Amino acid sequence: MSHDLSTRASDARELMDDPGADVAMLERTYERFRLVNALVSRPGQFYRNDIRPRARRGRVRVLDVGAGGADVCRMIAARLRRDGLEGEVTALDADERAVRWAAAHDDGAGVRYRCALAEDLVAEGDQYDVVFSNHVLHHLSAPELQGVLRDTDRLAGAGGVVVHRDIARSKAAYALFAAATLPFAGTLLRGSFIRVDGLISIRRSYTPAELAAVAPEGWTVRAGLPARLELRRKKSDARP
Ligand SMILES: C[S@@+](CC[C@H](N)C(=O)[O-])C[C@H]1O[C@@H](n2cnc3c(N)ncnc32)[C@H](O)[C@@H]1O
Repeated sequence: MSHDLSTRASDARELMDDPGADVAMLERTYERFRLVNALVSRPGQFYRNDIRPRARRGRVRVLDVGAGGADVCRMIAARLRRDGLEGEVTALDADERAVRWAAAHDDGAGVRYRCALAEDLVAEGDQYDVVFSNHVLHHLSAPELQGVLRDTDRLAGAGGVVVHRDIARSKAAYALFAAATLPFAGTLLRGSFIRVDGLISIRRSYTPAELAAVAPEGWTVRAGLPARLELRRKKSDARP
């Protein structure tokens, strides 16, 4: 089936967001996020550029909003430990199925798991040095997006960094993901929602220009590869 990628498919729904989704498929999806993120999300680069420099100045508090299977959190916790740096990494997700799975697969990483919304942490007066999300923005409705940006801004206080990382929608991204995942549909990705939800996610994602148009004042959008975008809070007093 061919899809029109010229506009956001904001009404499309990922199968993993269905409360009645098959649990085995969902858990396999959380497990496979690690592979997807290793291939497209560049978590190591994010750690080196945004987390390690802050951790070198002292104990760092990191929050992942919509952590899913929390593989990125476990990787960050492991890198901090490897680098002899102190930190606390919190994996936040609104879906208790994700939090349950991620907590059961911590494997000694020492990540904190919370089933809550960012606004709940704001209400508790929490503060973090680094607040980020990965592959979450496209899941959100327009009011939810504004709420997450407002709440993550507050959670990072004046000096923290806030960066939301996601897919950038394009025909090429859709065609590439479709072609690259097809040979693995019956093997590596079998029994998961990765392929079908990945394609829906690309259709739901923003282009950099669309995201810049809906982002409030004080945020900046940067395009990256492969088919990536980054929405980052501008802060004159946030040091690199
Ligand atoms: C596609 S998954 C991405 C998971 C993970 N960040 C990754 O990159 O693999 C999106 C996750 O965001 C979560 N989510 C969606 N809206 C959320 C919100 N408003 N607050 C917290 N989590 C949210 C979903 O439950 C889901 O686990």
